[in-house]
Amino acid sequence: MSFGLSRGRDLDPGTVEVLTSSFPALPDDLLSRPEAGFLNISGWFPIPTQPLEIEIGSGKGSFLLGQAESQPAVNHLGIEYAREFFVYAADRVRRRGLPNVRMLCTDAVEFMRWRVASSSVSVIHLYYSDPWPKKKHHKNRVIQDAFLEQSHRVLIPGGELRVVTDHDELWAWDMEHFTRWTTPGAMREHATAPFELRPFIPPSWVGEGQAVATNYEKKMCDAVGKQPHACVLRKPPATSLQPSASNDQLSC
Ligand SMILES: C[S@@+](CC[C@H](N)C(=O)[O-])C[C@H]1O[C@@H](n2cnc3c(N)ncnc32)[C@H](O)[C@@H]1O
Repeated sequence: MSFGLSRGRDLDPGTVEVLTSSFPALPDDLLSRPEAGFLNISGWFPIPTQPLEIEIGSGKGSFLLGQAESQPAVNHLGIEYAREFFVYAADRVRRRGLPNVRMLCTDAVEFMRWRVASSSVSVIHLYYSDPWPKKKHHKNRVIQDAFLEQSHRVLIPGGELRVVTDHDELWAWDMEHFTRWTTPGAMREHATAPFELRPFIPPSWVGEGQAVATNYEKKMCDAVGKQPHACVLRKPPATSLQPSASNDQLSC
Protein backbone atom coordinates (compact mmCIF):
# COMPACT_ATOMS: atom_id res chain seq x y z
CA MET A 1 0.00 0.00 0.00
CA SER A 2 1.44 3.39 -0.96
CA PHE A 3 0.34 6.88 0.16
CA GLY A 4 1.69 10.40 -0.25
CA LEU A 5 3.66 10.27 3.01
CA SER A 6 5.57 7.20 1.83
CA ARG A 7 7.52 9.05 -0.91
CA GLY A 8 7.01 6.12 -3.27
CA ARG A 9 7.94 3.38 -0.79
CA ASP A 10 5.46 0.63 0.03
CA LEU A 11 4.38 0.99 3.64
CA ASP A 12 3.56 -2.16 5.57
CA PRO A 13 2.02 -2.15 9.07
CA GLY A 14 2.66 -5.92 9.34
CA THR A 15 1.68 -7.44 12.67
CA VAL A 16 1.84 -4.02 14.36
CA GLU A 17 -1.71 -3.42 13.13
CA VAL A 18 -4.55 -5.00 15.06
CA LEU A 19 -7.46 -5.22 12.63
CA THR A 20 -10.75 -3.90 13.97
CA SER A 21 -12.45 -6.44 11.67
CA SER A 22 -11.07 -9.16 13.98
CA PHE A 23 -13.06 -7.83 16.96
CA PRO A 24 -16.10 -9.85 18.04
CA ALA A 25 -19.39 -8.09 17.25
CA LEU A 26 -20.91 -6.00 20.01
CA PRO A 27 -23.95 -7.76 21.53
CA ASP A 28 -27.46 -6.33 21.19
CA ASP A 29 -27.82 -5.90 24.95
CA LEU A 30 -24.52 -4.02 25.24
CA LEU A 31 -25.99 -1.11 27.20
CA SER A 32 -27.13 -3.35 30.03
CA ARG A 33 -23.80 -5.22 30.16
CA PRO A 34 -21.08 -2.99 28.70
CA GLU A 35 -18.33 -5.36 29.82
CA ALA A 36 -19.49 -7.78 27.08
CA GLY A 37 -17.75 -5.57 24.50
CA PHE A 38 -14.41 -5.29 26.28
CA LEU A 39 -11.35 -6.81 24.61
CA ASN A 40 -8.33 -8.53 26.09
CA ILE A 41 -5.96 -5.85 24.77
CA SER A 42 -2.99 -7.08 26.83
CA GLY A 43 -3.29 -10.40 24.99
CA TRP A 44 -2.20 -8.64 21.76
CA PHE A 45 1.33 -8.26 23.16
CA PRO A 46 4.08 -10.90 23.62
CA ILE A 47 4.20 -10.09 27.36
CA PRO A 48 0.55 -9.55 28.39
CA THR A 49 1.39 -8.93 32.05
CA GLN A 50 3.15 -5.62 31.31
CA PRO A 51 1.32 -2.33 32.07
CA LEU A 52 -0.64 -0.85 29.16
CA GLU A 53 -0.39 2.73 27.86
CA ILE A 54 -2.57 4.21 25.10
CA GLU A 55 -1.68 7.09 22.81
CA ILE A 56 -4.64 8.84 21.15
CA GLY A 57 -3.82 10.42 17.76
CA SER A 58 -0.33 9.03 17.18
CA GLY A 59 0.12 10.97 13.94
CA LYS A 60 3.43 9.97 12.33
CA GLY A 61 4.38 7.95 15.40
CA SER A 62 7.46 9.69 16.81
CA PHE A 63 6.21 9.75 20.41
CA LEU A 64 5.09 6.12 20.23
CA LEU A 65 8.52 5.04 18.94
CA GLY A 66 10.48 7.07 21.50
CA GLN A 67 8.32 6.04 24.44
CA ALA A 68 8.16 2.34 23.50
CA GLU A 69 11.91 2.18 22.97
CA SER A 70 12.64 3.80 26.31
CA GLN A 71 10.04 1.66 28.14
CA PRO A 72 10.38 -1.93 26.88
CA ALA A 73 8.61 -3.23 30.02
CA VAL A 74 5.41 -1.39 29.09
CA ASN A 75 2.92 -2.31 26.33
CA HIS A 76 1.97 0.64 24.09
CA LEU A 77 -1.16 0.90 21.98
CA GLY A 78 -1.16 3.75 19.44
CA ILE A 79 -4.54 4.76 17.99
CA GLU A 80 -4.76 6.92 14.89
CA TYR A 81 -7.89 7.27 12.77
CA ALA A 82 -6.38 8.92 9.68
CA ARG A 83 -5.33 5.91 7.57
CA GLU A 84 -2.46 7.73 5.85
CA PHE A 85 -0.79 8.65 9.16
CA PHE A 86 -1.65 5.29 10.69
CA VAL A 87 0.10 3.32 7.93
CA TYR A 88 3.13 5.60 8.05
CA ALA A 89 3.48 5.25 11.84
CA ALA A 90 2.80 1.49 11.91
CA ASP A 91 5.40 0.92 9.17
CA ARG A 92 7.96 2.83 11.28
CA VAL A 93 7.15 0.68 14.33
CA ARG A 94 7.44 -2.53 12.28
CA ARG A 95 10.80 -1.53 10.82
CA ARG A 96 12.09 -0.63 14.30
CA GLY A 97 11.10 -4.15 15.49
CA LEU A 98 9.41 -3.05 18.70
CA PRO A 99 7.53 -6.04 20.18
CA ASN A 100 5.77 -3.88 22.80
CA VAL A 101 3.78 -1.75 20.31
CA ARG A 102 0.45 -2.42 18.60
CA MET A 103 -1.60 0.06 16.60
CA LEU A 104 -5.26 0.49 15.72
CA CYS A 105 -6.72 2.54 12.90
CA THR A 106 -9.96 3.64 14.52
CA ASP A 107 -11.65 6.36 16.55
CA ALA A 108 -9.95 6.23 19.94
CA VAL A 109 -12.86 7.84 21.77
CA GLU A 110 -15.32 5.20 20.56
CA PHE A 111 -12.77 2.44 21.14
CA MET A 112 -12.26 3.50 24.74
CA ARG A 113 -16.00 3.74 25.31
CA TRP A 114 -16.91 0.25 24.08
CA ARG A 115 -13.79 -1.89 23.95
CA VAL A 116 -11.46 -1.03 26.85
CA ALA A 117 -11.96 -2.82 30.17
CA SER A 118 -12.27 -0.86 33.40
CA SER A 119 -9.06 -0.30 35.41
CA SER A 120 -6.83 -1.73 32.68
CA VAL A 121 -4.74 1.23 31.43
CA SER A 122 -1.88 2.93 33.30
CA VAL A 123 -1.43 6.03 31.09
CA ILE A 124 -3.44 7.75 28.32
CA HIS A 125 -1.35 10.11 26.18
CA LEU A 126 -3.13 12.92 24.29
CA TYR A 127 -0.66 15.23 22.53
CA TYR A 128 -1.50 18.13 20.24
CA SER A 129 -5.01 16.90 19.57
CA ASP A 130 -6.98 18.66 16.86
CA PRO A 131 -8.31 22.01 18.19
CA TRP A 132 -11.50 22.20 16.07
CA PRO A 133 -11.59 26.01 16.46
CA LYS A 134 -15.10 26.66 15.10
CA LYS A 135 -17.81 26.61 17.77
CA LYS A 136 -20.00 24.25 15.77
CA HIS A 137 -17.08 21.76 15.71
CA HIS A 138 -16.26 21.87 19.43
CA LYS A 139 -18.21 18.62 19.83
CA ASN A 140 -15.41 16.91 17.87
CA ARG A 141 -12.74 17.78 20.42
CA VAL A 142 -11.42 14.74 22.28
CA ILE A 143 -11.73 16.36 25.72
CA GLN A 144 -15.41 16.18 26.70
CA ASP A 145 -17.11 15.16 29.94
CA ALA A 146 -18.03 11.79 28.39
CA PHE A 147 -14.38 11.17 27.43
CA LEU A 148 -13.15 12.08 30.91
CA GLU A 149 -15.73 9.72 32.40
CA GLN A 150 -14.37 6.91 30.20
CA SER A 151 -10.77 7.84 30.96
CA HIS A 152 -11.56 7.64 34.66
CA ARG A 153 -13.18 4.24 34.16
CA VAL A 154 -10.38 2.63 32.14
CA LEU A 155 -7.45 3.99 34.17
CA ILE A 156 -6.06 1.97 37.04
CA PRO A 157 -5.94 3.73 40.44
CA GLY A 158 -2.93 6.05 40.22
CA GLY A 159 -3.21 6.01 36.39
CA GLU A 160 -2.76 9.21 34.40
CA LEU A 161 -4.22 11.13 31.47
CA ARG A 162 -1.38 13.28 30.09
CA VAL A 163 -2.28 16.23 27.87
CA VAL A 164 -0.12 18.66 25.86
CA THR A 165 -1.31 21.36 23.45
CA ASP A 166 0.03 24.56 21.90
CA HIS A 167 -3.48 25.86 21.15
CA ASP A 168 -4.49 28.54 23.68
CA GLU A 169 -8.21 28.32 23.08
CA LEU A 170 -8.23 24.52 23.25
CA TRP A 171 -6.23 24.76 26.46
CA ALA A 172 -8.89 27.07 27.97
CA TRP A 173 -11.54 24.48 27.00
CA ASP A 174 -9.44 21.66 28.50
CA MET A 175 -8.89 23.58 31.75
CA GLU A 176 -12.59 24.38 32.07
CA HIS A 177 -13.25 20.61 31.98
CA PHE A 178 -10.25 19.67 34.13
CA THR A 179 -11.21 22.16 36.84
CA ARG A 180 -14.59 20.49 37.23
CA TRP A 181 -13.12 17.00 37.16
CA THR A 182 -10.62 17.88 39.90
CA THR A 183 -13.06 19.72 42.20
CA PRO A 184 -14.78 17.65 44.92
CA GLY A 185 -18.56 17.61 44.40
CA ALA A 186 -18.46 19.26 40.96
CA MET A 187 -19.35 16.07 39.07
CA ARG A 188 -22.70 14.79 40.29
CA GLU A 189 -21.94 11.09 39.81
CA HIS A 190 -18.72 11.31 41.85
CA ALA A 191 -18.79 12.07 45.58
CA THR A 192 -15.08 12.93 45.58
CA ALA A 193 -12.94 14.57 42.89
CA PRO A 194 -12.38 11.94 40.16
CA PHE A 195 -8.90 13.27 39.30
CA GLU A 196 -6.03 15.23 40.80
CA LEU A 197 -4.36 17.91 38.66
CA ARG A 198 -0.61 17.43 38.55
CA PRO A 199 2.36 18.92 36.71
CA PHE A 200 3.44 17.37 33.42
CA ILE A 201 6.97 15.97 33.46
CA PRO A 202 8.51 15.36 30.01
CA PRO A 203 9.81 11.81 29.46
CA SER A 204 13.56 11.53 30.00
CA TRP A 205 14.25 10.61 26.35
CA VAL A 206 12.93 13.90 24.83
CA GLY A 207 15.30 16.71 23.94
CA GLU A 208 15.99 19.88 25.92
CA GLY A 209 13.00 22.26 25.84
CA GLN A 210 10.66 19.65 24.34
CA ALA A 211 7.55 18.24 26.05
CA VAL A 212 6.90 15.06 24.06
CA ALA A 213 8.95 15.37 20.83
CA THR A 214 6.03 14.56 18.53
CA ASN A 215 6.21 15.48 14.85
CA TYR A 216 3.72 18.28 15.42
CA GLU A 217 5.73 19.66 18.35
CA LYS A 218 8.95 19.62 16.33
CA LYS A 219 7.24 21.43 13.46
CA MET A 220 5.14 23.98 15.34
CA CYS A 221 6.76 24.59 18.73
CA ASP A 222 10.47 24.00 18.14
CA ALA A 223 10.38 26.20 15.05
CA VAL A 224 8.83 29.26 16.77
CA GLY A 225 10.05 28.53 20.31
CA LYS A 226 6.50 28.42 21.72
CA GLN A 227 6.05 26.79 25.14
CA PRO A 228 3.14 24.34 24.99
CA HIS A 229 0.57 23.94 27.77
CA ALA A 230 0.71 20.63 29.59
CA CYS A 231 -0.77 18.87 32.58
CA VAL A 232 -1.64 15.49 34.02
CA LEU A 233 -4.95 14.29 35.43
CA ARG A 234 -4.24 11.50 37.89
CA LYS A 235 -6.88 9.07 39.08
CA PRO A 236 -6.23 8.95 42.83
CA PRO A 237 -4.38 5.85 44.02
CA ALA A 238 -6.57 3.41 45.96
CA THR A 239 -5.09 4.52 49.28
CA SER A 240 -5.16 8.28 48.55
CA LEU A 241 -7.03 10.52 50.98
CA GLN A 242 -8.15 12.69 48.02
CA PRO A 243 -6.29 15.96 48.64
CA SER A 244 -8.12 18.74 46.83
CA ALA A 245 -6.32 19.81 43.67
CA SER A 246 -5.66 23.43 42.82
CA ASN A 247 -4.62 25.22 39.69
CA ASP A 248 -1.28 26.28 41.11
CA GLN A 249 -0.11 22.67 40.66
CA LEU A 250 0.03 23.34 36.91
CA SER A 251 3.32 23.39 35.10
CA CYS A 252 2.38 25.84 32.40
C1 LIG B 1 -2.67 17.57 15.26
S1 LIG B 1 -2.40 15.88 14.99
C2 LIG B 1 -1.11 15.50 16.18
C3 LIG B 1 -0.47 14.17 15.91
C4 LIG B 1 0.62 13.78 16.93
N1 LIG B 1 0.04 13.56 18.24
C5 LIG B 1 1.67 14.84 16.96
O1 LIG B 1 1.72 15.58 17.96
O2 LIG B 1 2.47 14.91 16.01
C6 LIG B 1 -3.80 15.07 15.73
C7 LIG B 1 -3.91 13.62 15.29
O3 LIG B 1 -4.92 12.97 16.04
C8 LIG B 1 -5.69 12.15 15.18
N2 LIG B 1 -6.99 12.01 15.86
C9 LIG B 1 -7.82 13.01 16.21
N3 LIG B 1 -8.90 12.53 16.86
C10 LIG B 1 -8.73 11.19 16.92
C11 LIG B 1 -9.52 10.13 17.45
N4 LIG B 1 -10.69 10.36 18.05
N5 LIG B 1 -9.05 8.85 17.34
C12 LIG B 1 -7.88 8.62 16.72
N6 LIG B 1 -7.09 9.58 16.18
C13 LIG B 1 -7.51 10.85 16.29
C14 LIG B 1 -5.71 12.92 13.87
O4 LIG B 1 -5.98 12.07 12.77
C15 LIG B 1 -4.30 13.48 13.82
O5 LIG B 1 -3.40 12.60 13.20
